[in-house]
Amino acid sequence: MSENRPRVLNMHKLLEPGPAVLAETADIFQYPEGQPLGDENIARAAEGCVGIVSQLMDDISDKVLSVPGLKCVSNVAVGYDNIDVAAATRHGVMATNTPGILDETTADFAFALMMAAARRVIQGDNFVRGRHFKGWAIDMMLGVDVNHATLGLVGIGRIGRAVARRARGFNMRVIYSDVHPLLPEVEREMGVTRVDLEHLLRESDFVSVHVPLTEQTHHLIDAEELALMKPTAVLVNTSRGPVVHEEALVDALKNHRIFAAGLDVYEKEPQVHPGLVALHNVVLAPHIASASTRTRSEMCAVAARNMVTAIRGGRPANLLNPEVLSVRP
Ligand code: GLV
Repeated sequence: MSENRPRVLNMHKLLEPGPAVLAETADIFQYPEGQPLGDENIARAAEGCVGIVSQLMDDISDKVLSVPGLKCVSNVAVGYDNIDVAAATRHGVMATNTPGILDETTADFAFALMMAAARRVIQGDNFVRGRHFKGWAIDMMLGVDVNHATLGLVGIGRIGRAVARRARGFNMRVIYSDVHPLLPEVEREMGVTRVDLEHLLRESDFVSVHVPLTEQTHHLIDAEELALMKPTAVLVNTSRGPVVHEEALVDALKNHRIFAAGLDVYEKEPQVHPGLVALHNVVLAPHIASASTRTRSEMCAVAARNMVTAIRGGRPANLLNPEVLSVRP
């Protein structure tokens, strides 16, 4: 550590080249592993730091953002619901994320969950490992077809569009709901049609959620919405847990009001609703949709570059609150 080099608080493990990029410009102070992640602790650890490299489990609240001298919070994620961006702006702190680079990897995983849930891949694996496989049977582990089915995308941002591209190869019909409609020529080119959420839920064989978590999308898929889905439908969530009401989903799955679900995210991570764990018609993944070696390394690199740019007085490529530039001292 040197006296005059800026100091950056790194909350969790980063993959190379993230640490190397940061170390060119700053001294890295590592948040103690195992220390609780409450905002008071984070704020205390951030004292004397110009930046925080955060991840999605860190509560970057007003308390954290008001630490004197803080210039930038760089989130190693595309989602940034863990950062109070309005407070960041108020305190003159730049907030950044890592968009764009994880779309294809996340879309791959949404498809993996869709197929695993529809075709009962995990149940099949458990069945074989449990030595229950005694021979081919005409009615064994019947699932639902992905090919030629209707896919409903709740949200058609970058990741939703990447899922839509994959759906073409499966001859799926793709409908979407979004507060921001695509341009008609983009819809035509992609072969997607905009409908309202109610229509989407009634019509879709697969519903895949791709919206950010905001006040408006919290519990967007609740009991009422699940009740509109077909009994043969599959719900996939790779966005944020609280977009789906977990208790209502447990109820719908338990009572076979929908066929299955594939989840990568949960309402209170890392806790998973015990009702989900007890069910066989849901595939549960530990928030790994963007977890390919290449994508996660690239996310670390981008987050580090965002931080370094901010420290050097520039405008980071993925600045979430550009208005901060006019309020900063
Ligand atoms: C992961 O969930 C991310 O937001 O990047």
